[in-house]
Amino acid sequence: MCGIVGYVGNEEAAPILLDGLRRLEYRGYDSAGVAIQEASGIEVVRAVGKLRNLEKALFDRPLQGSVGIGHTRWATHGRPSEVNAHPHVAGPIAVVHNGIIENHLRLRAELEKGGFTITSDTDTEIVSHLIHRETRAGHDMLTSIRRALAQVEGAYAIAVVSEAEPRRIVVAKSSSPLVLGVSRNATYCASDIPALLPYTNEMVFMEDGEIAVLDPDGFSLSTLAGEPVNRRSRKISWSPVMAEKAGYKHFMLKEIFEQPRALEDTMRGRLDRERADVETAEIGLSDEDAKAIRRVILLACGTSHHATIAGRYWIEELAKLPAITELASEFRGRDAVIGEGDLVIAVSQSGETIDTLMAAKEAKARGAKVLAIANVNGSAIPRMADASFYTHAGPEIGVASTKCFMTQLANLLMFSIWLSRRRGTLSEGEAREIVEGLVRIPHQIEERLEAMHEKISDMVREFSNARDVLFLGRGLSFPMALEGALKLKEISYVHAEGYAAGEMKHGPIALLDAEVPVIVLAPQDRHHERVCSNLQEARAREAKIIGVTTAGDAQTQSLCDAFVEVAPVHEVLSPFLTVVPLQLYAYCVADHKGTDVDQPRNLAKTVTVE
Ligand code: AGP
Repeated sequence: MCGIVGYVGNEEAAPILLDGLRRLEYRGYDSAGVAIQEASGIEVVRAVGKLRNLEKALFDRPLQGSVGIGHTRWATHGRPSEVNAHPHVAGPIAVVHNGIIENHLRLRAELEKGGFTITSDTDTEIVSHLIHRETRAGHDMLTSIRRALAQVEGAYAIAVVSEAEPRRIVVAKSSSPLVLGVSRNATYCASDIPALLPYTNEMVFMEDGEIAVLDPDGFSLSTLAGEPVNRRSRKISWSPVMAEKAGYKHFMLKEIFEQPRALEDTMRGRLDRERADVETAEIGLSDEDAKAIRRVILLACGTSHHATIAGRYWIEELAKLPAITELASEFRGRDAVIGEGDLVIAVSQSGETIDTLMAAKEAKARGAKVLAIANVNGSAIPRMADASFYTHAGPEIGVASTKCFMTQLANLLMFSIWLSRRRGTLSEGEAREIVEGLVRIPHQIEERLEAMHEKISDMVREFSNARDVLFLGRGLSFPMALEGALKLKEISYVHAEGYAAGEMKHGPIALLDAEVPVIVLAPQDRHHERVCSNLQEARAREAKIIGVTTAGDAQTQSLCDAFVEVAPVHEVLSPFLTVVPLQLYAYCVADHKGTDVDQPRNLAKTVTVE
C-alpha cells in the first residue's frame, strides 16, 4: 500500500512523477505529493484526495527540476490530510515511504526530546528527521540514511532527496517492494513495474536490506552494512499498453475481458497434450519431490485465498494428497504444525502481500518447502520461495482482482495434474480429458463474454438496490461463491455473503425474504441435485433467484427469476466458467451505482501492512 516513485535525469521531473503516480494510484489514493529539486532547493507540493487534486495543485504551483520523488498514500498512521501526505521534509531532506515504522513512537519521543519539531501524525516523518539528525552530525547523504535506518524497525521502501546532493536520489528497502529502472541518461525507482514501463523495460529488483544511490548515469547498489552488491538489470516483457484501459470504461472490465488471453498466456508451453501431462521444468521440482510430499498447505489472502480453496479440492481429488488452505494472516503466530514433507503453496497476485510473505517465511523456517504462485516476476514471495510457478496475466491494475484469479486457478489445476501424474493417481485417459478441456476454456469464456456482459447489465437494474446478496455453491462452486461475494462487496459496497449451499439452512436462511437476491451456482456436476434443493429452499422463502447454470439446463433455469448460462465442461473445470458472470455481476452493479470501480474506497491493490 502506498506507491513511491523517483526520477533523476535531464527531463522535467514533475510530469514523469505524476505519470508514475497515476500508474501506482491503485496502491493507495487518499493523498499524494511530490518533492522536486528546484534551483533554489527542494520544493514540495501535496494534496489530499485523488491524484487529480495534486495535478491541479501542480498546475497552480508548477515545479521545475529534473530530480524528484513522489508518493500516493494509503493511510496507516494519521488520517488523510495535507500535513500527513508525503513527501515529509526535515531540514534539507525530503522522504517518501511505503511501509510501517514499528518503533516510531519511541523514536518520535527521542527526537522531540532532542529539539526536533514533528508536524504530522505519520511514522514517515520520523525517518526524515532521523536522516536530518545524521546529516547535521556531518555525514554525507548515503551514510546518514544508513545510520538512520539502523535505528528503525519495521517495513519500508524509501526514496530520499537532499539539497546537499541535488543530482541524486537514495533509495532503500526492507519488506516493502522497490524496483529500479535504468535508461540512457535517466534512472528511476518505483513500488511497482507499471509505473516505469513507459520509460524503460530494464529493471532491477532490490532485495531487503539494500540501499542504492541513483543518478542520471545509473545506480550503485550495496547492503545497508556497506557491502557492494552487483546485480544486472533484467528486461521486463510487459508493455506500457498492457497497463492502459484500451477503450474500456474501467480497468476491471478490461481485465475481465482479457481473461481468455491471460489464460492462454499462462498455459502456453505448459500443457503437454500428447502425453496428457503438464510441463513444469521451470518450477524446479523433481518427480521424486512430487512423490515425497506428505501434505500440501495453501497460503493466501483475499481473492487468492479463494483460488487456493479450489486448488485444495483439485489436489485432494486428483493427486489424492491431504491438502489444507490457510488464511495467511491466521497462519502466522499460531504455532501451526508444519515441517518436512509439507509443501506450502503461497499464492499471491502481487507477490508482495505481507501476510502471505511472512507466513511463507515462517513455514520455510520450520522445514516446509515453499512453492510460490505469483504474477509479478521477481516479487518478494517468489524470491524467498524454493520454487516458483508464475501466472502470466500481465499487469492487473483494477483493485478487484479478476484475470489474476483466473490464472491462479489455471496454475493450481496444472500443478495438481502434474502432481497426480507423478504420483500415479490420475490415468492418462482422465488426464487427457481434463487437459483437452482446459485448452478449450479460453474460447468457451470468450464466446459468451460480450452477450453475458449485456445480459447482466440489464439484469442488475432489477437487483442493484438490494442491501444483501447471498452467493451459494457446493464443491468447486463454493470458493467461486466466496469470490463472487467478495467482488460485490469490494466494488459496490453491497453486503454479500458467499456460503456453502448446504450450510444455508444452518443459519443464513434466516436472512432470506423477497428483498434478498440469491445467486446460485448450479453447473451440471455431482452436486447439482442437492444445490437445486437448496435453491428451492431459498425460493420457498420468496428470495429472488439468479442462477448460473449449464447451457440448456431448462429445468434449473425454470426455477430461477433470472439466469446466466455457461458452457458444459468436465466438472473439475467449472470454476473457470462460473466465476465470470459473478465478476460481471459485481462490475455491473458497481457501474450502475456509480462507485469508483477501479479504486474502491478504503482498499489498496497490494497490502503490505499486517
Ligand atoms: C482482490 O479483489 C482483493 N483486492 C484482495 O482480496 C487481494 O486478493 C488480496 O489482498 C491478496 O492480494 P495478493 O494476491 O496480491 O496477495
